[in-house]
Amino acid sequence: MSPLDFTTKELDRLFDLAGDIEKHKEKYAHACEGKILATCFYEPSTRTRLSFESAMTRLGGRVIGFSDAASSSASKGESVSDTIRIISCYADICAMRHPKEGAPMVAAEKSGIPVINAGDGGHQHPTQTLTDLLTIRSLKGRLGGFTIGLCGDLKFGRTVHSLIHALVRYPDIRFIFISPEELKVPDYITDMLRAREIPYEEYMSLEDIMPQLDLLYMTRVQKERFFNEEDYVRLKDFYILDKAKMALARPDMLVLHPLPRVNEISVEVDEDPRAAYFKQAQYGVYVRQALILTLLGLAPQT
Ligand code: CP
Repeated sequence: MSPLDFTTKELDRLFDLAGDIEKHKEKYAHACEGKILATCFYEPSTRTRLSFESAMTRLGGRVIGFSDAASSSASKGESVSDTIRIISCYADICAMRHPKEGAPMVAAEKSGIPVINAGDGGHQHPTQTLTDLLTIRSLKGRLGGFTIGLCGDLKFGRTVHSLIHALVRYPDIRFIFISPEELKVPDYITDMLRAREIPYEEYMSLEDIMPQLDLLYMTRVQKERFFNEEDYVRLKDFYILDKAKMALARPDMLVLHPLPRVNEISVEVDEDPRAAYFKQAQYGVYVRQALILTLLGLAPQT
C-alpha cells in the first residue's frame, strides 16, 4: 500500500472516515471484531508499530506479530516471501517494516492478505504520509496552496520521499528543500518535479527561508542509513529549530515532524502553538484505523 495506490478522491474518503473515527470513537469500537492484524517489524519502531496495534485494538480486533527480525525466523534465513505466506494463514491484514527497499512490495505479491508498507529502508513510508496529510488537512483545512519547507536529511528520510510524491497531486504546492549538500533530496525526485513543472528550490540556510513557509517539515538525520559514523557526527546537528528561528516564521506556520526527534527541534519549541508534531502522532492512529477498515472492506459505504 502506498498513498499513490489511492486516488485523491479515495484519500479524501479515507480522511473523512478518519475524521469520523476521531469524533465517534464508540461507533467503530467493534468494527474489526474477529479480525487479526499482524505487525511484522524487521526494524525498530515506536509510533508506527504501536499506532497500528492501537488502531486495530480500538477497532475491536486483535494483534499478533514481532518487533525485531532477531526474534523471528528471518534470523534462521527465512525469506520475506515465505514468511508472508505463513502470516497469511494466521492474520487478515499485515503491516510490515523492513530495512530493504521494496521488501513489503515483494511480500504483497506473495501474500493472501493486504500488506501495508510500514517503511522500507530509505525508500517510502506511506502510512506516515497518510498521517502527515491528515494532520495538514485537519489543522489547515486543505491540502493545496502551500509553500512547504522540508528540512534535514532529505536523502535518506523516507517520510520526505513519500510526502513529496503524495503532495504533487494537489494544486499550487511549492517545495523548499533545506539540507546540507550531502543530504540533498535524491535526483529521481527533483527529476520528477521538473517533469511535472512543480516549483521547488534548494537552500542550505533555514533562517533565510523561514518567513516564506506555510508548513515546515523537520526530519531527523537518519543515523542508521549512514555508512560511517564520522559523517553522521558532522551532520547530525546541522539544523536545530529553536525559539529564535520560530520568531522568524509566520504566525500560522505549522511545524511537523514524523518523530522520533533527536536534537533537530529544541524542546523549547514544544509549547509553541505552531508545533504540531505530537498532534500528528495522534492523527496517525485515526488514519491507520481508517486504512485497516478500508483495506478489509469494512469501511461504511458513503
Ligand atoms: N514516524 C515513525 O515512523 O516513527 P517510528 O520509527 O517510531 O515508527
